[in-house]
Amino acid sequence: MEKLKTSLIFLTFSCIFISTPTAHADKQIPDNGTKNSWFENICKGRENIAKLHFYVQDVRSGPNTTAFNVASSAVASPGSLTRFAEVNVLDDKLTAAPELDSEEIGRVQGLTASADMRVRAISLSLNFVFTSGKYNGSTITIVGRNQLGDKQRELPVVGGTGIFRFARGYALTTTYLNDAVANRTVLEYSIYVTSTIG
Ligand SMILES: *[C@@H]1O[C@H](CO)[C@@H](O)[C@H](O)[C@H]1NC(C)=O
Ligand SMILES: *[C@@H]1O[C@H](CO)[C@@H](O)[C@H](O)[C@H]1NC(C)=O
Ligand SMILES: *[C@@H]1O[C@H](CO)[C@@H](O)[C@H](O)[C@H]1NC(C)=O
Ligand SMILES: *[C@@H]1O[C@H](CO)[C@@H](O)[C@H](O)[C@H]1NC(C)=O
Repeated sequence: MEKLKTSLIFLTFSCIFISTPTAHADKQIPDNGTKNSWFENICKGRENIAKLHFYVQDVRSGPNTTAFNVASSAVASPGSLTRFAEVNVLDDKLTAAPELDSEEIGRVQGLTASADMRVRAISLSLNFVFTSGKYNGSTITIVGRNQLGDKQRELPVVGGTGIFRFARGYALTTTYLNDAVANRTVLEYSIYVTSTIG
């Protein structure tokens, strides 16, 4: 947490430093973000840093399944804790609030592969597709390693489209709810990312 605060302060200062010459460019695009929305512009200037905060609804069984196991391998012993070599494809709903029936703000589409033979960790490739608000039509791509047993995981933002062109940043994710009976997990995401508008 301290590390995060320090890096945010650093980002804020570097924005103040570089913002002056191009400050007028921000005025051309109305900023409709508010404190209560799921996104927040935390830095304006030549490079804007946005903070996105939302939940991923991962449903693995029942009529509304959005995450499917497509392959597993004999290399993982049955009931293996690492589930090594298992592959899943998902098209999970993104919501601003943690409840499953909350308004949809986008989808996360991609695949995960259990890729660690010693601990439960997945290698993932995810596209966050936003369908609401000023980010409607823009995407953020995350590729990285997610060690599921850790309370908080950090994932790299490797690119984006729309207002996230040239995106750089990172995501912090935690498991908000894990319902092993209903086969449903809610993941909380905070993404700190460069964007071309505030
Ligand atoms: C965004 O804010 C501007 C200026 O306050 C307003 O004119 C515009 O209608 C708003 N747009 C939306 C989609 O709320
Ligand atoms: C599946 O989704 C529909 C539409 O959102 C909802 O009415 C229904 O209750 C859901 N079913 C389950 C088992 O969650
Ligand atoms: C998002 O953009 C699509 C395509 O431009 C449009 O049809 C849709 O109404 C927009 N949704 C919102 C919530 O603004
Ligand atoms: C959850 O998944 C397990 C294992 O795939 C399955 O046996 C069980 O029926 C599922 N639970 C529900 C509520 O669908």
